[in-house]
Amino acid sequence: MAKAKSQFVCANCGAVASRWQGRCDACGEWNTLQEEGPALPAATAAGRGVVVSLHALSGKTESPPRLESGIAELDRVTGGGFVPASALLVGGDPGIGKSTLLLQSAAALAACGRRVVYVSGEEAVDQVRLRAERLGVASAPVELAAETHVEDILATLKAGPRVDIVIVDSVQTMWTDLAESAPGTVTQVRLAAQNLIRFAKATGAVVILVGHVTKDGQIAGPRVVEHMVDAVLYFEGDAGHRFRLLRAVKNRFGPAAEIGVFEMTGDGLKEVANPSDLFIGEREAHNPGTAIFAGMEGTRPLLVEVQALVSASGLATPRRAVVGWDPSRLAMLLAVLEARCGLAFGPFDVYLNVAGGLRLAEPAADLAVAAALISSRLGVASPPETIYFGEVSLSGTIRAVPQAAARLKEAEKLGFRKAFLPAAGSDDAKTGLALDKIASLTDMVAAFAARAEAIAG
Ligand code: TYD
Ligand code: MG
Repeated sequence: MAKAKSQFVCANCGAVASRWQGRCDACGEWNTLQEEGPALPAATAAGRGVVVSLHALSGKTESPPRLESGIAELDRVTGGGFVPASALLVGGDPGIGKSTLLLQSAAALAACGRRVVYVSGEEAVDQVRLRAERLGVASAPVELAAETHVEDILATLKAGPRVDIVIVDSVQTMWTDLAESAPGTVTQVRLAAQNLIRFAKATGAVVILVGHVTKDGQIAGPRVVEHMVDAVLYFEGDAGHRFRLLRAVKNRFGPAAEIGVFEMTGDGLKEVANPSDLFIGEREAHNPGTAIFAGMEGTRPLLVEVQALVSASGLATPRRAVVGWDPSRLAMLLAVLEARCGLAFGPFDVYLNVAGGLRLAEPAADLAVAAALISSRLGVASPPETIYFGEVSLSGTIRAVPQAAARLKEAEKLGFRKAFLPAAGSDDAKTGLALDKIASLTDMVAAFAARAEAIAG
């Protein structure tokens, strides 16, 4: 028999190649192909199936109660608690607070009488204990193990009474006898995850896998793990800022794009029930160059301060620096302001910052960014207690954005009195705010210019 050939698997996308290449054909990444053991010959897998029963789409289903952690921000993101017999992946940059979040959740669930096993592949039992002490949860009946061998973990879990929740921190440290390659390789991570997920489905336990994320935001190693689990949550935030966002990017049992907001403190993560306060709390009122954006994160309104600084440049190519927003979107807005509104930015450096370290992805932020830019450029502050939202098109018209009513409601709740919003699509909004509905960006430039004149005269 011919010697079985090894295969090469891309650590980024999981594509399989028959020989080594510098660049993955499937995803285009460089240096991501890793050698793995031979694939199973197709012949051994074929010809052994049994007949399975088929079912109708309708029928009685028993949905078991969800396991609520009692941490409201976490339960919101999972869609009302963990679903028994499901697997979750919690991803995030190293040091962002994944282990802290999960240890706190484990303690909360254990305190409710659930059997919770926390398996750490990265820290020793003593280190986890120290952390638990610091978090003030050391008395919770969580069962700890420092282990990386999947078969041993599963044997331990099966030996004891029924477990409700297993936390595996992290999946990248796990290894199984089923593969010959080293821990951390694609095959190891995939098979380890597969084994743990199978345990969840077979016993009704919730399996939570922790995964590290690469700098470009992918769960490091195989993205296949993302496909295998029922929900993928990202824990994100800026290391220099206190707040952390837990974001559902995939959820088979609840809404995706839902967020939970936490604050990292000296003794662990604290829930932030009113996140808008966090992002506009320290706003510098009446300074030119700031505007409050009424944004949405999932189903949740969130007010954020956008700051711009437009200053005369001595450089041949003026600087454009952006934190928390898409630089190409800034270039587009500047072009629209120049071409459609006659407001030149060519000889100026432009700096843009989203307060608090948040990243804005919504097109609805266009109008707030434009307001901050115009305000700084003309040296006139935005009207007090005013919020902005709306998408700017290349022609300079302001396009409607979803959920206008929810945005206005949040602003009203926080004491705002005026809103600049798209003329289109906001007819039915009932609110106590004074609405300035604008059809085109030139209207807003005119409004700021009129304010500048009123202040000067
Ligand atoms: P950790 O949960 O270990 O991150 P991850 O598991 O995602 O790698 O969090 C580590 C960081 O959190 C570390 O920089 C210290 C900080 N931290 C606090 O600020 N307060 C705390 O109570 C704890 C436990 C950690
Ligand atoms: Mg950790």
